[in-house]
Amino acid sequence: MNDWKTSHDRVLAQRQAEGWMFLIEAVRDLRTTGAIAPSGKALSRLLTRPVQVQAPRPLAVLEAGAGTGAVTRTLMPQLPGGSRLDIVEANPRFATRLRRLVDSHPEVKAEVHQAYVEELHTDQHYDVIVSGLPLTNFEPKQVERIMARYMELLHPGGTLTYFAYLGTRRARTLLSSRAEARRHAAVDHIMAGYQRSYATARWTTWANLPPAHVWQLQRPLVSSDDQRHRGDGAQR
Ligand SMILES: C[S@@+](CC[C@H](N)C(=O)[O-])C[C@H]1O[C@@H](n2cnc3c(N)ncnc32)[C@H](O)[C@@H]1O
Repeated sequence: MNDWKTSHDRVLAQRQAEGWMFLIEAVRDLRTTGAIAPSGKALSRLLTRPVQVQAPRPLAVLEAGAGTGAVTRTLMPQLPGGSRLDIVEANPRFATRLRRLVDSHPEVKAEVHQAYVEELHTDQHYDVIVSGLPLTNFEPKQVERIMARYMELLHPGGTLTYFAYLGTRRARTLLSSRAEARRHAAVDHIMAGYQRSYATARWTTWANLPPAHVWQLQRPLVSSDDQRHRGDGAQR
């Protein structure tokens, strides 16, 4: 009983420390941090659903924007043996914390890269990308770069999950400048294009603060270039 209480207390203390760290980083830079608290369990489970679907084969997984590791902690125990996890986080203080987290799970082959995901240099391709980036806070050009990089980094047939908080556009329309509302609308327009072309699922979680949609996109097995060439061949 005492042992249980001690480990339970330890988890609670760790969650509290994590909550404070997240809040401090949000105060420092809300645009990049994107939230004032880490994602809850329900959201983390939805974001990592493609890992459960694609298991038990070993997977190459990329997590972008891992923050204090709320989603990483849900992700790691689900990874089939022989999998590889790359974690990309722009904030150096979060990256240090994430390194400690992966060091405490030596059974998982994981590496933390302190970088902007759109600038990540790698030859690796991924079966699953889990994105925690606050895309609706970014400039449209940056969103284009990030989404294009995600699609490049996925294997054909690979899946990307990301979330969007509910009601942010309406809140911005009411509370922000016109320029800010226009920026948000332009980002929504880019994302709607990706959703039309690649979305395979969308889930909603109300058990998160704030509630969120989780989108799942899939890179097609055959690229649009290949499809065009096949079309040409059939006409000849
Ligand atoms: C909304 S938080 C999500 C954190 C965590 N995944 C969660 O759900 O609790 C967004 C995270 O993305 C990171 N980030 C923002 N822009 C980034 C970029 N271009 N590349 C990598 N990480 C980025 C931020 O530092 C922050 O940790």
